[in-house]
Amino acid sequence: MLFQTFTSPSLQLKNRVVMAPMTRSRAVERNAPNALMAEYYGQRAGAGLIVTEGTSPSPDGLGYARIPGLFNAEQVAGWRAVTDAVHAQGAKIFVQLMHTGRVAHVANLPAGAKVVGPTAAPLAGDMYTDAQGMQPHSPPQAMDAQAIAQAVDEFVKSAKLAVEAGFDGVELHAANGYLLEQFLNANVNTRDDAYGGSADKRNRLAIDVARATVAAIGADKVGIRVSPYGVFNGTGAFDGVEAQYLALARELGALKLAYLHLVDHSSMGAPAVPAAFKTQLRTAFGGNFIASGGLDRQSAEQVLTDGRGDLVAFGRAWLANPDLIERMKAGLPLNAPDPSTFYTPGAKGYTDYPQSEAATA
Ligand SMILES: Cc1cc2nc3c(=O)[nH]c(=O)nc-3n(C[C@H](O)[C@H](O)[C@H](O)COP(=O)(O)O)c2cc1C
Repeated sequence: MLFQTFTSPSLQLKNRVVMAPMTRSRAVERNAPNALMAEYYGQRAGAGLIVTEGTSPSPDGLGYARIPGLFNAEQVAGWRAVTDAVHAQGAKIFVQLMHTGRVAHVANLPAGAKVVGPTAAPLAGDMYTDAQGMQPHSPPQAMDAQAIAQAVDEFVKSAKLAVEAGFDGVELHAANGYLLEQFLNANVNTRDDAYGGSADKRNRLAIDVARATVAAIGADKVGIRVSPYGVFNGTGAFDGVEAQYLALARELGALKLAYLHLVDHSSMGAPAVPAAFKTQLRTAFGGNFIASGGLDRQSAEQVLTDGRGDLVAFGRAWLANPDLIERMKAGLPLNAPDPSTFYTPGAKGYTDYPQSEAATA
């Protein structure tokens, strides 16, 4: 079923294979997408749907070195070249809106921007900066009601710019320990106000952002990614995690979002997301469901035939194989990804992975 077209009210795709969002840190000038990035995404337009790397809706959300943004005209123009390259080959593309929150260092932020989070507690450990090498994460400013309203507004404005840049939609990044999950996760969000202190209150920011974004650009243009049981960036499971995410999925389903994208990083050392819970989450959401994490051709096909997902996402396989569809169709071996060039600037390990003869013919 992998290569069959996908038709749903909100999403029509040439196949069921999604390219998972992957930060690649090639936006070397002013966090704007460039020609190299358009080439990279264009090479991977065999996918039915591409989800871009995490892209900040705000100067405050640019916590990592060289990640792209989507909040000014230069960035819109850069992304337009990307969406054109992808659309020319009949693929769809959503931009992943990622506000890094407290996963940040001030040296990575543009002048005037600040590190923010649900509380003032800094994330333990170090992160890379171009200017000062490895540095401890910067302490965040705890967001007050006004800062929260501003963040919601930034997501909305960025979603509108995404439409202007030619994207088919946005994926709200509520996974992997970035701002929206910093509010969802009870180990990080220790607030005691309207945005913390209970499951409903922890869910509130993600729902506020989803609702406001849907109102701005339409539900068929808004997807969301979540990672219950994820451990990245100081998150981790907590008492009541399943009940909280089921409630979240029901609310997001009521908003008729284009899809729910579930992360399972057990292939990267995180605890597995229990299979029964995945099924419950999918039922609670009720719309298109993307499964991801550690899949290969065979296991992805099995997900689709078992009805455990409507679409399947591959990350590292796409990173290293621009012609992944041709390779999977022909049963050809895959290039191995080179982690030493995942986040380095330039074409090496980015646009120079070899294509198979099947693809170049
Ligand atoms: C280099 C790299 C960068 C990533 N960046 C992001 C990101 O920006 N946003 C996100 O949601 N996931 C990110 N991920 C996670 C992937 O989307 C995916 O969930 C993960 O690689 C597991 O899928 P796989 O086993 O098919 O690679 C990244 C993964 C890799 C390898």
